[in-house]
Amino acid sequence: MDLDRIIERRGTDSYKWDDNERLFGRRDLMPFWVADMDFETPAPILDAIRDRCRHPVLGYGIRSEAYFQAVIDWLRDRHGWNVPTEWLTFCPPGSIVGINGLITKLTESTASIVVHMPAYGPLTALVRDNGRHLIECPLAERNGRFVIDEVDLVSRLKPDTRMIILCNPHNPTGRVFTAQELGVIARVAEERDLLVVSDEVHCDLVLPGHRHIPFGTLGGGRSITVISPNKTFNTAGIPQATLVIPDPTVRQQFRAYLNTMQLNHDSTFGAVGMLAGYRYCSSWLNRVIDYVAANHRFVADWLAKNLPELKKVSAEATYLAWLDFRATGLSEVEIMHRLVHKGRVGLYPGTDFGAAGVGFFRMNVACPRAQLERGLEGIRSALMAERAIRPIG
Ligand SMILES: Cc1ncc(COP(=O)(O)O)c(C=O)c1O
Repeated sequence: MDLDRIIERRGTDSYKWDDNERLFGRRDLMPFWVADMDFETPAPILDAIRDRCRHPVLGYGIRSEAYFQAVIDWLRDRHGWNVPTEWLTFCPPGSIVGINGLITKLTESTASIVVHMPAYGPLTALVRDNGRHLIECPLAERNGRFVIDEVDLVSRLKPDTRMIILCNPHNPTGRVFTAQELGVIARVAEERDLLVVSDEVHCDLVLPGHRHIPFGTLGGGRSITVISPNKTFNTAGIPQATLVIPDPTVRQQFRAYLNTMQLNHDSTFGAVGMLAGYRYCSSWLNRVIDYVAANHRFVADWLAKNLPELKKVSAEATYLAWLDFRATGLSEVEIMHRLVHKGRVGLYPGTDFGAAGVGFFRMNVACPRAQLERGLEGIRSALMAERAIRPIG
């Protein structure tokens, strides 16, 4: 696998590469927005899918014992978490559909739900679109890091609060929450009898020097941990998700949702892909993590040298760089316009992650280094156009 190889993805009905005109108003830009990788999906996954296609019938499937075992082994070997088989439930369309089920089945329609901000948009949309009250709880910015603030969290809770949706590792800030921060969430949840839905779909992409702690290992009975191979192995086109649910009542309620929605059968390719990924793609993932970590460093160094007005928030996980444009003094609309029409690069604007994201843009760095450098050059030409950057101070 050559991670430096630039793969032409245009013309494959790729959301990232073939939908830019609809989203940004022009086709000729380099996309650094949606969270998939421009690296090839691991060969063992592609081979397993090809293998399965040797049989000509693609009917309904069941989940084999091997399938459960692959998840159990992965969680034990990668994250030190021993999970009994009965805790596992699968949600073939992916994590967001699973979290939707948790909200609708486990909270009453008048409930309020906490999400830390800025937040991956679909998480807050799920709360709002299901008619629940969203409690936006900003992460506190301390020395360039975004951290969980216990006092602030507690002050925002209401008598009707039923759930905290945690995102760890955190999209978009790249934080891997510490044992102390997760302990705060666990304690508050215990005291106030809240369910914690821990969206851990980025947990396999923790960068060297950091360690992911699955929320479920803290011992709280009423947590639900959501993991998925989609980010890990770049298989978002054949989605799958696993929910780890220790509490039997919660599990039963969630399974009732899967039943109602006819989600008990996997997509064959999602299942085959996940099994191959968890079984055979650990070393592929290690290489990708090292490359992504080097890309994060590359962006930080490049900006320090060429565009010191932009600051990159230090990433602890994910291939998402959270870039701070506040010192440019430009509005988001103005920056967006320049990025698209002068720099020809597509980045997610910070307010897609809520008001707490004002002044930031999110850049996906899971691509060959040369491509990343061209993107950074695009940002530079966007900001330098007509002397956009004002002197600071
Ligand atoms: C935090 C987070 N949760 C969930 C998802 C979506 O996951 P899935 O494709 O499994 O629905 C994403 C995708 O970017 C994400 O960043």
